[in-house]
Amino acid sequence: MRSHYCGELNETFVDQEVELCGWVHRRRDHGGVIFLDVRDREGIAQVVYDPDTVESFAIAEGVRNEFVIKVTGIVRLRPEGTVNNDMGTGQIEVLGKQLEVLNAANTPPIQLDDHSEVGEEIRLRYRYIDLRRPEMADRLRFRSKVTNTVRNFLDDNGFVDVETPLLTKATPEGARDYLVPSRTHPNKFFALPQSPQLFKQILMAAGMDRYYQIAKCFRDEDLRADRQPEFTQIDVETSFMNEEQIMTVMEQLISEVFKSHLDVDLGSFPQMSHAEAMQRFGSDKPDLRIDLELVDIADLMQEVDFKVFSGPANDEQSRVVALRVPQGASISRKVIDDYTAFVAIYGAKGLAWVKVNDIDAGIEGLQSPILKFMPEQVVATLMQTLKAETGDIIFFGADKSKIVNEALGALRIKVAEDLGQVRDGWAPLWVVDFPMFETASDGSLTSLHHPFTAPACDAEQLAANPLAALSRAYDMVLNGTELGGGSIRINKPEMQQEVFKVLGIDEEEAREKFGFLLDALSFGCPPHGGIAFGLDRLIMLMTGATSIRDVIAFPKTQSAACPLTDAPGSVSGKQLGELNIRLREQAPAAQ
Ligand code: AMO
Ligand code: AMP
Repeated sequence: MRSHYCGELNETFVDQEVELCGWVHRRRDHGGVIFLDVRDREGIAQVVYDPDTVESFAIAEGVRNEFVIKVTGIVRLRPEGTVNNDMGTGQIEVLGKQLEVLNAANTPPIQLDDHSEVGEEIRLRYRYIDLRRPEMADRLRFRSKVTNTVRNFLDDNGFVDVETPLLTKATPEGARDYLVPSRTHPNKFFALPQSPQLFKQILMAAGMDRYYQIAKCFRDEDLRADRQPEFTQIDVETSFMNEEQIMTVMEQLISEVFKSHLDVDLGSFPQMSHAEAMQRFGSDKPDLRIDLELVDIADLMQEVDFKVFSGPANDEQSRVVALRVPQGASISRKVIDDYTAFVAIYGAKGLAWVKVNDIDAGIEGLQSPILKFMPEQVVATLMQTLKAETGDIIFFGADKSKIVNEALGALRIKVAEDLGQVRDGWAPLWVVDFPMFETASDGSLTSLHHPFTAPACDAEQLAANPLAALSRAYDMVLNGTELGGGSIRINKPEMQQEVFKVLGIDEEEAREKFGFLLDALSFGCPPHGGIAFGLDRLIMLMTGATSIRDVIAFPKTQSAACPLTDAPGSVSGKQLGELNIRLREQAPAAQ
């Protein structure tokens, strides 16, 4: 229907007849002449109708925003003084000859030029209009280009794209499962995969050697800006490669994506142990664009007359840390109170602080609600240890390590953002040497990565002291976001059983849930390992979007619903009957 896209037109088309198809972006009536800004995927062109073309002029008078039209006209240079250099097509306009309305449109609930006024619920309900906004459409097209590069890279490196089932058995990745009832097997359920983890391992047992898939994953978990219940992974598995080799290829993949699409050279990725990341940044996904670091000061605080500090300083499960913030002394009391409320979200019971007004004036130059509890010598040593300077503020956290890490780790980022202390650019790294297990709130052990991750020690050492065992896992972190995670896997059934045992899964349960994996491991499964990247997160970071919802065509809301289709929805009694399901009279409150 069209000869050209609107956005393609420029001076070289002058005097040519063109046919454009698109949406009325804006209509302006300039007393006697009608201007239509016509928009399509590639941009906007200005079309002018004057009253000489009687029939078309009459139609142009009747069109409204978002009508779908077909324009036939002649390209001409804009008259002097009306050139618009902000517009790709701003040098030219199209003198309209014919106009056809292909479809009318109701008044749109979203104005395409100022979406910020519109709530997300409306944007998602009328997603087809929201996606007409160039910045949204551009992100989807960017995403498509990136996946193309990913496919080409993996293909060139011998990876084979294999699809794995969506109707399957639970794959534990730490979230709740989405379940699908089976009609043909009454009272039985499929689970949607939290990841293709087990199938990709089985493909290694099958001799596929190098697998990849751009795979949909489903996780019923608390949602945030960088989490969706349904999301996409770049999922990879290889045989006969160790962690260094896998990390090298995957670093090349991500580097190539950044080079091709942002012309950014990521350089080589440093590696940092999990322990070091937690100690210095309170996080297993440190944002290395921020220089602020947590410094342990428990040694200094063991004897002080301030229980808030001396208690945790003498407890192995706790930490006492200081966070020195240059140029922070100007932070107001009000802001300190806000920060205190902020760290409370993570369970911190307070936020002690010291302002360094004049480092050369000794204790007189410091301002703080807590210094009165400390001997002058301790304060002096503290300032030396922290290399404090005039103009700093120092924040303190003292509590169980988990609380201190989460609270001060988050505060580190918040303060840096507020004070403009986050460097521009990209800071990738690998986090390695993760512990195998962590202790859940009920005291049981859970896998830090997943139960199929190989330990760095032998089975005996693992059984003797599981909490001390490190795993062969690695995470790729970029600007404080966990972009991907992977590991070398267990490839022997005995070791897999051992890990299940530590996790409290007895042999019978292991057989029932993972018998197929244990079998696969016992019929000649090669050493193997892999990784999965969050594609949505990658695109979010690369496009500068603040939420992964902005890089997904049809995302779910924070409460895991789809306002566009109104899913999830009710189903008929007949359908439930076929599935052998009876609903409770009243739905129990969500947990
Ligand atoms: P993991 O659970 O770490 O590993 O997931 C891999 C990556 O997927 C992304 N991701 C998410 N993105 C959006 N919404 C979510 N709810 C969500 N959950 C995870 C993250 C994360 O780094 N099978 C293993 C991988 C492996 O071992 O090979 C796995 O799924 O970017
Ligand atoms: P308090 O003695 O409770 O008034 O606390 C004195 C100072 O220590 C206040 O600035 C509190 O915000 C701070 N504070 C209290 N508990 C903690 C904690 N667990 N970690 C860090 N600072 C704390």
